[in-house]
Amino acid sequence: MSDAIPDDVREEHARLVTEIRAHDTRYYQDDAPSVSDAEYDALRQRLLSLEAEHPALVTPDSPSQTVGAAPASGFSKVVHARPMLSLGNAFSEEDVAEFLQRVRRFLNLGEDEPVAINAEPKIDGLSASLRYEGGKLVQGATRGDGREGENVTANLRTVDDIPDTLPDGVPEVFEVRGEVYMSKSAFAALNEAQAAAEKQIYANPRNAAAGSLRQLDSTVTASRKLSFFAYSWGETSDLPADTQSGVLDAFRNWGFSVNPLTRLCHSVDEIMALYREIETARGELDYDIDGVVYKIDRLDWQERLGFVSRSPRFAIAHKFPAEKATTLLRGIDIQVGRTGSLTPVARLEPVTVGGVVVSNATLHNEDEIARKDVRVGDTVTVQRAGDVIPQILGHLPDKRPADAEPFAFPETCPACGSHAVRDVRENGEMDVRRRCTGGLICPAQAVERLKHFVSRNGFDIEGLGTKQIEMFYAAGEVTAPADIFTLKARNDDLKLEEREGFGDLSVKNLFEAIDARREIGLDRFLFALGIRNIGQQTSRVLAANYLSLEALLTVLDKAVEEGPEGEAWSELTGIDGIGNTAIGALTGFLDEPHNRKVLDDLLAQVTVTDFDAPAQDSPVAGKTVVFTGTLEAMTRDEAKARAESLGAKVSGSVSKKTDYLVAGPGAGSKAKKAADLGVTTLTEQEWLDLIGG
Ligand code: IVH
Repeated sequence: MSDAIPDDVREEHARLVTEIRAHDTRYYQDDAPSVSDAEYDALRQRLLSLEAEHPALVTPDSPSQTVGAAPASGFSKVVHARPMLSLGNAFSEEDVAEFLQRVRRFLNLGEDEPVAINAEPKIDGLSASLRYEGGKLVQGATRGDGREGENVTANLRTVDDIPDTLPDGVPEVFEVRGEVYMSKSAFAALNEAQAAAEKQIYANPRNAAAGSLRQLDSTVTASRKLSFFAYSWGETSDLPADTQSGVLDAFRNWGFSVNPLTRLCHSVDEIMALYREIETARGELDYDIDGVVYKIDRLDWQERLGFVSRSPRFAIAHKFPAEKATTLLRGIDIQVGRTGSLTPVARLEPVTVGGVVVSNATLHNEDEIARKDVRVGDTVTVQRAGDVIPQILGHLPDKRPADAEPFAFPETCPACGSHAVRDVRENGEMDVRRRCTGGLICPAQAVERLKHFVSRNGFDIEGLGTKQIEMFYAAGEVTAPADIFTLKARNDDLKLEEREGFGDLSVKNLFEAIDARREIGLDRFLFALGIRNIGQQTSRVLAANYLSLEALLTVLDKAVEEGPEGEAWSELTGIDGIGNTAIGALTGFLDEPHNRKVLDDLLAQVTVTDFDAPAQDSPVAGKTVVFTGTLEAMTRDEAKARAESLGAKVSGSVSKKTDYLVAGPGAGSKAKKAADLGVTTLTEQEWLDLIGG
C-alpha cells in the first residue's frame, strides 16, 4: 500500500465521496433521488474502481464501506438481535502479521503462546441470518444496513442448503449466519434463460444471488439455484463448542454446508501457504470468492477482543489482488446514459480474467482515455476487481500498431446527434463528463425527462407516474411534455379505457388531473423542464426575481444573443444564488431550436402563472429557518414551501445566520448545534403559531 496516489486521483476520489453522500442523503433520508439509478451506479462503480486501484483510499467512512444499503420496501423489516458486522481488510502478508500482532498485544499473550486461527474462504455473496427457535427455522433476514435487514424467510426456506429443522438437542435459540451465493454454473444458466426471455441480465453471481433472494414471489426464488455456507452466528441461548472451528463442525452436523477449504492455521507462514493455495484454486471453484477470512479460533478470546466500530477485532478479511489480463482493444463505443452523459466503453477481444470472460470494459470518460493514451488497436491491460466492472489500466507501448490514431471523442450525441458538451463549473473546472444537450429529443434521455416533468415537485400529475410514462413513451404516444396535454383530445384513437391497468374511472381521473395542471406557477414550470443545474431553488430564485415567464424569457433571450460578456448575462448572474452554471444551462437550453419547439408546444397547452411574491409583512420575512426531526402537521416539502411563501429562507444546516430551528421529534445534531450557537429553537406548534397556523 506504499504506492503514491496521484493528486488528481485523490481529488477525484474526494469529489466522488462528497457527491455519493449527497445522493445517499437525498435518496434515503429525503426520499427524493436527484440522479438516475444508472448514474448513481456509475459514480459508485468509479469510486470502487479507484479504491480497488489504490486501496489506501479506502477509509472507514468511504461510501464503499457502508454496510449494505438501507432496507428497500416490499419486505417487512427485521432488527437483528445482534448486529451483522463487516470485516476489516488485509491486502498483504504484512497486514496479516500486523493483525496477529495486534491480537497478541490486546490479549497480552506471551511470544510462545500458540494462537490457532480458523481460515475460511471469503464467499462473494450476501450474508443472511437464520433464526431457529426450538430447532425450527422461524425467521430469515438479509443483512440490510447491519442493524436492520429484510424479512426474507419464505425465500430462504427455498434454499437447499438451509434446513427447516435442526436435530434434537440444539440450543433453544440459535441464529446461524452465513453467505447466500449462486454457483457460477447456476449463474451462467440463469443468465442464458433470462436472455432468452429478454429479461434482466445479472452482472455477476453476487448480484444474481441478491436479486434472486429479494424476489417478492418466493416461487421465483425457488426456481433460482441458491446455495448457503454457514460461518458465523448471531443471538444464541448456548454454544455447541468453545472454538470457531468447533462451532463450524456442529453446523456440519446440524445439516449445514460449511466451506470445505476451511482450515485451522497456527502461524503467518501457514496462513500464507493456505492463502496461496486457495488463490490458485480460485478459478476452478464453482463459486466466487474474493479472499480468505482469518478468525481467532478460541471463542473466549473472540469475546475479549470484541469489536471496533463495525468490525470484530478477532477477524480480518485477506483480499485477493485484482485479476488482470491483456487483450486487444477492438473499438470504443459511446453509451448515452439516461441523463445524457456520454460514457466510453471499450470493446475487447474476449479474454478470461479470473475465470470470467470479459469483452467490455469501462473507460470512464474522455480525459481518462487521453491520460492513458489508449487507442483502438492497442493491446491493453484489463483488470477485474471483485464486483467492479472491468476496467482498462493502460496499454503495452511495444504492441501498438504504427497506424493507431488517438481516439477522437465525439462532440455530438450518438443517440440523437445533438451537441455534446462539457459543463464548466463555478470554479472554472471542466466537468469530466460530456453530456448530450438533446434533452427530450434524445431517445436515451426522454423517458427520464418526462418522468421528472410529471414528478411531485414538477407538474405533479396524479395518476401519471413512472409506469404510465414508460408505457406512453414506448408506444410513441407521449414523447414530449405537450403530448400529455393532448391525450384527452386523442383518446378517440388511443382508447385508454380499454387498456390493461386503466378503467373508465381512472381515465376520467387522469384527464381531470392533467386539466388541473393547465395552470402552473413559474417556479414549478421552470423546474419541471428538467434543465441540468436548474433545481428547485434556482427555479424559485429566478421566478422570484422576474415574476413572469415573459419577463424571464426576455432577459434570457438577450443573454443568449449577447453571450456571457453582455449586460443581460451580468444582470442574471448578479442575482444572489444564481451563477454562470445556471445561466449557461438556461441559455444553452434556449439556444437549441428543438428545445424551443418543446417549449412553444407546451406553452400552447398550459398557462404559466406569475410567481406569487412572498409576503414581506409576514413575521418571518427575511428570516433564515432550518427544519429538523419529524414534522407532524406537514411534510418537509410543505413546510419549506410555506416558509418560503412567507418570505423566509430555508436552509439545510444550522449556522450563526440561522434565526429559527424548527425541531420535531428525533431532532439530533442540529438541535445541539442550535443550542450551542444560541439559535432560537421552536417546536412545530410554536412555529405554526408564529406564522399564524
Ligand atoms: S464473518 C463478525 N466469514 O464478508 C464477522 N464473513 O466483509 C462477520 N463473508 O458481511 C463476518 N465469507 O458477507 C465472515 N467466511 C466468512 C465470510 C464472510 C464471506 C462476507 C460476509 C460479511 C462480509 C464482511
